[in-house]
Amino acid sequence: MSTRVAVIGSINADLSVNVERHPLPGETVLGSGGELSPGGKGGNQALASARQGAETIMIGAIGTDPYADVATRLLREAGVDLTYVTTNPGPTGLAIVAVDPGGENNIIVVPGANATLTPQHIAAADEALATCAVAVVQGEIPVETIETASRILEPLGVRQILNLAPVLNLSSEVLRRSDPLVVNEHEAAQILLETQNRVITPATTEAEYGQKLATALVESGITSVVVTLGSAGAALATTEYAIHINSPKVEAIDTTGAGDAFVGALAASLAAGDNLQIACQRAVRVAAHSVTGHGAQTSYPSTTETLPR
Ligand code: RIB
Repeated sequence: MSTRVAVIGSINADLSVNVERHPLPGETVLGSGGELSPGGKGGNQALASARQGAETIMIGAIGTDPYADVATRLLREAGVDLTYVTTNPGPTGLAIVAVDPGGENNIIVVPGANATLTPQHIAAADEALATCAVAVVQGEIPVETIETASRILEPLGVRQILNLAPVLNLSSEVLRRSDPLVVNEHEAAQILLETQNRVITPATTEAEYGQKLATALVESGITSVVVTLGSAGAALATTEYAIHINSPKVEAIDTTGAGDAFVGALAASLAAGDNLQIACQRAVRVAAHSVTGHGAQTSYPSTTETLPR
């Protein structure tokens, strides 16, 4: 049985700066740093998956500028299969990341080549996709490309993880095929509002609120849902249960890409045959480890590193 993971998504170069606090609208603040490192939700998830031991295929697009090399450096080093990363004329995706002393970030993404990933690119990779146990898609590529990927994956029997970040207006079929849908609490609330005009009132704890959101999304017909809650862990729901998983307590230096570390580790674990609860338990530990270092991919653990408990 295959344990391979495919990640269909964005590849960026991240330009990261440190700020004492994030600027208000119209305000200028001074910062420091200015490192360039590989990022993009798709690239990040592919690296997290590979570093967690899964044979990983990346399907995405980069440009013809020098950032293309920066954006793919760690993926190459980790042995991620980049056969289906297409090079299109123009700039590579770029993210401007500002991180405050508490590790919280603000990100502006300029899609660049990510916007040129077409349904045809996905169709061209169908034989490779057929060899995978799990495929992951996020919201930083065009809607029609995500819709096509979901349609191609279904008859192949490949488990689909949809990380709807940012939230896009996708068909209900794509949402229903996801197993799981992975979103943070803001994204979960936005999907419920936009698709069902439904508002979930906050609960006394983040854990309870996350479970309520996950349950409401399952009630809309999605097979399984994971709501990531940052340092509060994750809530997951299926038609049979709704539970909360605690995150290990760590000192956060930079939370950039923590959600992607979670998704990549989740994909690797599900592809290896773990059930959703076990996979989420591992994923919260990988995500917690990732916030203890700077940058997104640069902070992802390999299987030889000890994860926090
Ligand atoms: O999720 C973090 C990622 O979002 C960054 O690496 C950045 O590139 C943006 O895509």
